[in-house]
Amino acid sequence: MKLIIVGNWKNYPNSLDEANTLLSTLSKKSSVYKNSKISTVIAPPLVYLETVSKKARRFATVASQNLFYPKNGTYTGEVTVDVLKSFGVKLSILGHSEQRKLGETSETVSEKVRLALKSTITPLVCVGEEEHDAEGNYFEILRSQIATSLQGVKKSEADKIMIAYEPVWAIGSQSNGAMSPEELTQMVIFIKKVLTELFSRSVADKIPVLYGGSVDAYNAKSLVGKTGARGLLIGRASINAKSFFEIVSSLVK
Ligand code: PGA
Repeated sequence: MKLIIVGNWKNYPNSLDEANTLLSTLSKKSSVYKNSKISTVIAPPLVYLETVSKKARRFATVASQNLFYPKNGTYTGEVTVDVLKSFGVKLSILGHSEQRKLGETSETVSEKVRLALKSTITPLVCVGEEEHDAEGNYFEILRSQIATSLQGVKKSEADKIMIAYEPVWAIGSQSNGAMSPEELTQMVIFIKKVLTELFSRSVADKIPVLYGGSVDAYNAKSLVGKTGARGLLIGRASINAKSFFEIVSSLVK
């Protein structure tokens, strides 16, 4: 099974010129990003979608960082799934903690997940606790986030979902701020258990769980594979061509 590597560019780079430079550098190593072991996805700011979908065609698919969920009607300032699909969007990051901080709830995430499934866009559903408290309350927080974010999803379509486990405390720090592989292994087992309760064991087995939070070239390899994580959601290091290259090449070795 291929590792799924998603570059979450967030609101960067700051200009289209810089995005073009990043894409040109990435495309020089296209064989590293798309091969029998790796499948690369790039989620750029929406206004760069066209450029990324054209320039990264050979080595990555494009994703959106969110989705607007009412399907019909007029909504000034919003971008619908139909528009996203026309730009080649195949996956959508949903419920990212930075969106949750702006007010996104697990209930709205679930609306978006269902619309994505209906629109044949893969929902990459982000979950993760704010803090890894000593009492272990984060397990229940995570269980409820997963259950609510996936409410209303039919068992027959649940295997089209992907989960990104991103402990909020691990996002955006240095290499040693990432979760340890040992802890991640426990968390992936727990997430699979919750998915089994919601759907079934065989469905849970088919749902890839990705890890995100301070991934870099030093920790990437230890965080996938043995931990049960099927891939990585990479923020900061994905907008630096050198670090993205180093991460992905560390995984193919
Ligand atoms: P980071 O971000 O890799 O910069 O920690 C990950 C994310 O927010 O998806």
